Amino acid sequence: MSKPIGIFDSGVGGLTVLKALRGRLPHSDFVYVADTARVPYGRKPKEMVRGFASEIAWFLQKLDVSAIVVACNTASACALPDLAERMPVPVWGVIDPGVEAARRVTRTGHVGVIGTKATIASGVYQGKLIAAGLMVWAQACPMFVHLVEEALADSSEAEVLARHYLSSMPRIDTLILGCTHYPVLAPVIQRVVGAEVTLVSSAEVTAEVVSRAFMNSPDGRGRVTHYVTGGVPAYQHTAEVIGGVDGQVIPLDVTRLADAGVIAG
Ligand code: DGL
Repeated sequence: MSKPIGIFDSGVGGLTVLKALRGRLPHSDFVYVADTARVPYGRKPKEMVRGFASEIAWFLQKLDVSAIVVACNTASACALPDLAERMPVPVWGVIDPGVEAARRVTRTGHVGVIGTKATIASGVYQGKLIAAGLMVWAQACPMFVHLVEEALADSSEAEVLARHYLSSMPRIDTLILGCTHYPVLAPVIQRVVGAEVTLVSSAEVTAEVVSRAFMNSPDGRGRVTHYVTGGVPAYQHTAEVIGGVDGQVIPLDVTRLADAGVIAG
């Protein structure tokens, strides 16, 4: 039997990556950790997010995963590449695939990236996009994560906030959704930026890159086990916007995660 692929995010956002991965690897098993007790990561100091990412990675390692997908731009910006160097299994983030996709998609070389405060403040996207020869506009949209976690993605509040955050957007032809929660807001973001701007979802492109490294086993429907540090009913309710939760949901005491990080990290 093949080992499951580990995947994590601060909340339901990473389910956009899981969904895209399952579309490409329908027979693989996955273990998904949603750290909803500590969401949002995007407003927390970098060192703290690095600590959370390390704890979860070691927790997944103990479950004997074959690889880890950091389905969170904030954790990718704060913890990679160090985390990848320390873990005994391959670790993927969501930033490099997003940058590569934007480079492929743009016609004018003028691209934008939106993300959490921590992701934008890290400058990781900006540095990589500039190194790829592109002109970059970057904007933090801190309230977007709350809209998704509170199941308000399709609301008038979402439209007002999107117009607010995107009001100073210059002429670009490509916009990276640099937070895995944002694909849920794609319809409203697309309405605000106009049809001529192509949205790049880090979920889709990460799934494309990661799935290339795995052989899809020939049969059987893959299973997903979810570990959730916050309330299980709230997680299940919020996950409805990303197609719902398929699989077992296990409550995870956040102190158990901290122990995993201390013992192994
Ligand atoms: N989904 C996460 C990301 O991609 C983070 C959201 C948060 O917890 O702030 O950045």
